[in-house]
Amino acid sequence: MIRTILIYGAPELQTKSSPITDFNDEIKTLAQDMLETMYAAPGIGLAAPQVGINTRLIVLDLSGGEEVGHQVILANPEITEQEGSEKGEEGCLSVPGFTAVVERPVKIHVCWQDIEGCPQEIDAEGLLARALCHEIDHLDGILYLDHISLLKRDLIRRKIRKKARAGEW
Ligand code: NI
Repeated sequence: MIRTILIYGAPELQTKSSPITDFNDEIKTLAQDMLETMYAAPGIGLAAPQVGINTRLIVLDLSGGEEVGHQVILANPEITEQEGSEKGEEGCLSVPGFTAVVERPVKIHVCWQDIEGCPQEIDAEGLLARALCHEIDHLDGILYLDHISLLKRDLIRRKIRKKARAGEW
């Protein structure tokens, strides 16, 4: 089932999410719904708070569903190591119509649990590292807008407020 993606301004997007302790059917359904919602958007990553659920679950598919075997579901993901920093352009399904350059680590090590609760880990770099950092941030109520310059952030906020006044946000 495709769920509604919340946009900037929704309190769920600025709330710290709770860990998953019970890998039950509800979580499995949420993960499947999030994948469906992400592909429909379309996007390459989605975090549970973006569909209004403050639980530590993210889904990723860097191929956007174009290729099989790229789909990943991560419960309770944690960045345990990080190295370097590089700038790259990011957008977010919850901030539609905007992008900005964000500084992220070049390499990260991430630990998580799969949908059955089994521990997993990966070394990631490039776009995968960036996408993981972006989505994991969502679980802590952080948007990419929180990482950009005050000037650029205010500019985007002003444009959003203008859209909101026009009933377009
Ligand atoms: Ni996002």
